[in-house]
Amino acid sequence: MRKLAAGNWKMNGTSADIPQLEALAAAHANAGVDVVMCGPATLLHRMAVTGVSIGGEDCHPETSGAHTGDISAEMIKDAGATHVITGHSERRTDHGEDNALIAAKTTAGWAAGLHVILCIGESEAQYRAGDTLEVLRAQMDASIPDGATAQTTTIAYEPIWAIGTGLTPTPEEIAAVHANLRAYLMDRFETGSQMRLLYGGSVKASNADEIFALANVDGALVGGASLKAADFSPIITALENA
Ligand code: PGA
Repeated sequence: MRKLAAGNWKMNGTSADIPQLEALAAAHANAGVDVVMCGPATLLHRMAVTGVSIGGEDCHPETSGAHTGDISAEMIKDAGATHVITGHSERRTDHGEDNALIAAKTTAGWAAGLHVILCIGESEAQYRAGDTLEVLRAQMDASIPDGATAQTTTIAYEPIWAIGTGLTPTPEEIAAVHANLRAYLMDRFETGSQMRLLYGGSVKASNADEIFALANVDGALVGGASLKAADFSPIITALENA
């Protein structure tokens, strides 16, 4: 499978940041891995002409209608994107999104022809209680629709307590979780052995080599370190070299 270095600008980025993507496109024109940058809806058209593949950060489950402020998967596709994130913990927390809604958004992404990066992850309390695997399996049961394939779907494991905190699980912990997720995907989906599994949460140039060396880590979803080409570029290179 081709590995994936995905960035997520979140609620960051204006026109002034487009040169960061142009620099990435120039530096990784023939990357040996897929590179996708997910960005705010306001910038997608601009991002899409830089040469880097582009994704939305969220989509509405319906194709159009009276939903002020929302963006459909069709609109994201029309803006030039090929990917969309669903189920990010910031959507789950800030907007009360539950697994059923995330499943509906994922189906909408597929229907629009987008590859969906579906996020799962446990809270710090769940991690401390030793409930990580149980939480992740329940999230996957209810948020990954039947019919997911390696061609249409990537799963991103993002421990909530590791996002934007500088904390990460140990390599052993990441490896154990990813092995468990792989077993789940293989059990449930015909192409589960080929479905990419990303790790996300405080990935940066200094820990990328160690994380990418782990079995069943097929790339990363990167927030803070995706905003500047100088920070994201070495992460792409680390994945190419893994
Ligand atoms: P971070 O965010 O890399 O800033 O921790 C990751 C994410 O939320 O996808």
